[in-house]
Amino acid sequence: MVKAVKIGHSDVIANPLGLGTNAVGGYNLFPNLNDEDGRQLVDAALSNGINLLDTAYVYGLGHSEELVGDVVAKHDRDKIVIATKGAQDFSTGEQVINNDPKFLTDQVNKSLERLGVDYIDIYYIHFPDHDTPKAEAVGALQKLREEGKIRAIGLSNFSLDQIKEANADGYVDVVEDEFSLLHQDHLNEGMLDYLHDHQISFVPYFPLASGLLTGKYERDVKFPADDIRSQIADFKEPRYSTILEAVDKVRPVASAHNATVAQTILAWYLQNPLISVVIPGAKKASQVIANAKAMDLTLTTEEYSIIENAFEPFKNTQSGKSLKDPD
Ligand SMILES: NC(=O)c1ccc[n+]([C@@H]2O[C@H](COP(=O)([O-])OP(=O)(O)OC[C@H]3O[C@@H](n4cnc5c(N)ncnc54)[C@H](OP(=O)(O)O)[C@@H]3O)[C@@H](O)[C@H]2O)c1
Repeated sequence: MVKAVKIGHSDVIANPLGLGTNAVGGYNLFPNLNDEDGRQLVDAALSNGINLLDTAYVYGLGHSEELVGDVVAKHDRDKIVIATKGAQDFSTGEQVINNDPKFLTDQVNKSLERLGVDYIDIYYIHFPDHDTPKAEAVGALQKLREEGKIRAIGLSNFSLDQIKEANADGYVDVVEDEFSLLHQDHLNEGMLDYLHDHQISFVPYFPLASGLLTGKYERDVKFPADDIRSQIADFKEPRYSTILEAVDKVRPVASAHNATVAQTILAWYLQNPLISVVIPGAKKASQVIANAKAMDLTLTTEEYSIIENAFEPFKNTQSGKSLKDPD
């Protein structure tokens, strides 16, 4: 079992593999979800060595937080690390990103109510807005930390310059952004080095590239037009075939450990010194249970390099975010 990690400068300690819960109550993000399956995903995580749950207001407009809260209430709350996020303001009828200190304070209070808890372990500003000075937004979260309502301060989807501005007073503990073996742009931008040098934890999202890095996809895959995967750049040729070739190079490493490709890829993130907690999402409890076992898998230095080298083509190019077309 790999060691628990400390989040930034805070006293939050988490196991290094968490659960991404955008498919728990995230009816606005995925079709055909049901509440009971969502609760089972969270319960499977907490019963199998996962203790960090990554949710957000925007996953089901509060519903993911409610379902997470239902399950947390049946477990030992103090052993669980709840991470949630806010910044989406629907008060005008359409979504506006809002980092105003008053708005963020109100969002934290509403998340506490929906989760049914009296503190949140990690609160992320989900997206930066255009107007609010970043350090002022973070200052509002620092005040909430002093009041005991949150324990660690996070930023999500901020550029490196925005992170630097937000961290002017040194209050930021953790950054969550898209990063996977297929999307390593932050290495080129220097973001991960900055975070490492300033003791800010990094949590990559989309670690399995929405399932593509589990090795379950075949060459001739076709998705209906209303399936989000039909729009994801990673599923478009010629990039798609290049990805499958890279994934094939992971298979012998997985076999040597009697593990799946997903577990092997997750183990690679767990051993990457620039990554703090990896938060794969799941649609089925069986996926959560399988993914949790990655915490028992140790890659040799040579195996770590085999995987890193397999994805070299995605390291030195601007691969873009997964929902944008690749260059
Ligand atoms: N901060 C942000 O702005 C932001 C943005 C996006 C996501 N996130 C967070 O990051 C988390 C992870 O992102 P994600 O869930 O969208 O993508 P992901 O972790 O890259 O992929 C998860 C998907 O892969 C498939 N999968 C997972 N484990 C599997 C297994 N063992 N075998 C086969 N398939 C498996 C499942 O989809 P299928 O079964 O449908 O293939 C699952 O929903 C989210 O839940 C959320 O908490 C944050």
